[in-house]
Amino acid sequence: MRIFKIFIVILLFSFPLTTNLQADSEKMALGLDVYNNKAACGACHILKAAASEGNIGPNLDILKPTEEQVKLIVTEGLGVMPAFGEEGLLTSEEIDAVSFYVANSSGK
Ligand code: HEC
Repeated sequence: MRIFKIFIVILLFSFPLTTNLQADSEKMALGLDVYNNKAACGACHILKAAASEGNIGPNLDILKPTEEQVKLIVTEGLGVMPAFGEEGLLTSEEIDAVSFYVANSSGK
């Protein structure tokens, strides 16, 4: 009986953890897709995790930007980098995903 209670406790605690991990991996997959296809960030940036070798903007593996930093520039743009958010090129869900993806994959 005791072992059964322990099992239930483990089950209860691991449930939110696994659903979180699943949400994170879905966000990473959407982020990679936005990076490679819809926004074509790789045309201008180096990011080894996405096998991109663009040389117009800074190397993201060296810069290692935070999620907030990516979100800001992808929303507002800067110089030749398009304002994907303000120009309506990406949805806020896509911006969240690509920011999460770049912040968690740069320098790896
Ligand atoms: C047309 C080329 C181009 C595309 C496409 C592009 N960028 Fe950029 N990006 C640049 C340039 C150029 C800069 C440097 C801007 C400056 O400092 O004037 C930059 C800067 C950045 C920075 C650095 C911001 C900082 O705080 O220093 C990040 C992060 C970034 N881009 C991420 C992305 C992501 C993610 C995408 C795709 C959603 C993307 N870029 C698409 C050209 C581009």
